[in-house]
Amino acid sequence: MKAIAQSRYGPADVLSLREVPRPVAGAAEVLVQVRAAGVDPGVWINMTGQPYAARAAFGLTRPRIAVRGRALAGVVAEVGPGVTTFQPGDEVYGTTGRGSFAEFAVAPVKWLARKPATLSFEQAAAVPISAVTALAALRAVRAGQRVMVIGAAGGIGAYAVQLAVARGARVTGVCGTDKVELVRSLGADEVVDYTAAEVDRDGPVHDVVVDTAGCRPLSLLRRAAAPRGVVVLAGGGHDSGGLLGGMTRLLRVPFVAARPGARFQGLFSGERAAELDELRDLIDAGAVRPVIDRVYPLAEAPDAIRYLALGHPAGKVVLTV
Ligand SMILES: NC(=O)c1ccc[n+]([C@@H]2O[C@H](COP(=O)([O-])OP(=O)(O)OC[C@H]3O[C@@H](n4cnc5c(N)ncnc54)[C@H](OP(=O)(O)O)[C@@H]3O)[C@@H](O)[C@H]2O)c1
Repeated sequence: MKAIAQSRYGPADVLSLREVPRPVAGAAEVLVQVRAAGVDPGVWINMTGQPYAARAAFGLTRPRIAVRGRALAGVVAEVGPGVTTFQPGDEVYGTTGRGSFAEFAVAPVKWLARKPATLSFEQAAAVPISAVTALAALRAVRAGQRVMVIGAAGGIGAYAVQLAVARGARVTGVCGTDKVELVRSLGADEVVDYTAAEVDRDGPVHDVVVDTAGCRPLSLLRRAAAPRGVVVLAGGGHDSGGLLGGMTRLLRVPFVAARPGARFQGLFSGERAAELDELRDLIDAGAVRPVIDRVYPLAEAPDAIRYLALGHPAGKVVLTV
């Protein structure tokens, strides 16, 4: 089968479209004919092997798994031993740990769910990682609360705005000038253009501040959060250098959190079938929709990754297979 794979760590040039063996579904796994694959910032870490700490999981000197990509949408081609929840022909979406930028991918049943009926494969592939992360970030939000989403037009942020609106929150989105109308169209009650104002413009009024951009000082984020609120740190920005990259930001949390005020919460979301089922219901009910910025053919995955790495997508970047 054809897949986007790499033999060594490095920039997007290390990726190439090549022939690789079709994977085989093991127990509790299914083989999916991939129709579309989502691109997310995590692909950059897998590809470059940076920050270096990531190599402990992905392979010390070169990537243990050559095929890139995690999010996918497609059609079940074969089921592994013991699988009863899916059968060949089912349309699914979810994630794999063994590469989704390929004609076929093997995924564990627990990371898959039936695809939303109202979405194309390209739209469905844009959901699994980003929307599940947004869902996790907003888990505690209740109707009437004030929520700020920083990076409101990005992969996670565009979902976070819609999910917070669906929960009955009053939402402030933070984005660049060119995304203001998009963020409004997603339902944000207020939009802060970060080129014109800071995130603490309205004072410490937000019950939940979700930061996906990872580039504002922690003390500033806290000045946007109510004293009993929470600042959810979803991303470490585009600092992927050194041993820990954006994770070094988390090391500063105890120093800022020692002062009275909102608490901080790191976010390490997993993708599970239960969340994908929940999202499918919200999507098919019309409460949430994927925002797709660009769709690239599989062979142009390196360009898709380069574009995402610029850090300013309007929603999601997707590969069609
Ligand atoms: N914790 C987890 O479980 C988890 C899971 C998935 C991803 N992540 C991480 O979460 C982060 C965000 O992921 P994503 O897919 O949403 O990334 P993305 O699609 O690249 O979005 C990044 C956002 O950052 C915003 N931004 C850039 N510069 C900014 C600035 N100076 N001020 C305010 N906003 C700025 C951009 O807004 P404009 O376009 O408006 O400039 C954009 O919306 C990444 O670091 C990713 O690795 C974490």
